[in-house]
Amino acid sequence: MLTIAVSKGRIYEEALPLLKEAGITPLDDPEKSRKLILQTTRDDVQLVIIRATDVPTFVEYGAADLGIAGKDVLLEHGAESLYEPLDLKIACCKLMTATHKDAPEITGRVRVATKYVKTAQRYFASLGIQAEIIKLYGSMELAPLVGLADCIVDLVDTGNTLKANGLEPRDLIMNISSRLVVNKAAMKMKHQAIAALLEQFEHTLAQR
Ligand code: ATP
Ligand code: PRP
Repeated sequence: MLTIAVSKGRIYEEALPLLKEAGITPLDDPEKSRKLILQTTRDDVQLVIIRATDVPTFVEYGAADLGIAGKDVLLEHGAESLYEPLDLKIACCKLMTATHKDAPEITGRVRVATKYVKTAQRYFASLGIQAEIIKLYGSMELAPLVGLADCIVDLVDTGNTLKANGLEPRDLIMNISSRLVVNKAAMKMKHQAIAALLEQFEHTLAQR
């Protein structure tokens, strides 16, 4: 049995066509069902539905053999304990700094609101900027508006969320997409099944 960890919403929706090409169609819709383990049209594959930020943890501990997670989440978690064999090129966006339209360029000392604490710390350190990081769990865009922070580090896709809040993107930290991650022990113990799945995903991606 192969267990694949996926988060509901954007990643699930975009991963579904890839999974389908590999013969994997979940028997329940996670948006409608309360089930956390979904059986699929393949007897040897099941999905576990978890929070996006929990995917690396499940895979690292072997609770799932494979997972699909955003590079943002992997950077923040630290992915040394996982194999990351494939860029699935889904859920694409950018990790950026953003601030008020009329705010001056960030130099010297800065207060940053983000849920990506480690990534932001590393980024500002690499620029030689002293950053005080304030951890938030969402609605980062609010922080500069209410004086909680000088800028934010968050994901940007269309830019609509920033624009709606009078903010603008500044510096690109990294282009983000979702990656297939694999538990290291499972890669050895279930090598044949995992290699076949990887090959199928690669084939589908090559045709896109
Ligand atoms: P959690 O439930 O753990 O708090 P989340 O609410 O951030 O996670 P999603 O919004 O589904 O979960 O995001 C999952 C992943 O999709 C992110 O880690 C990122 O890689 C990508 N992503 C997030 N926002 C966007 C966006 N606006 N456009 C494209 N991809 C995005
Ligand atoms: C993400 C991200 C931004 C927004 C960017 O939020 O945290 O707020 O998307 O996308 P845009 O540039 O196209 O506006 P999401 O939609 O996932 O909401 P959530 O973080 O509250 O789950």
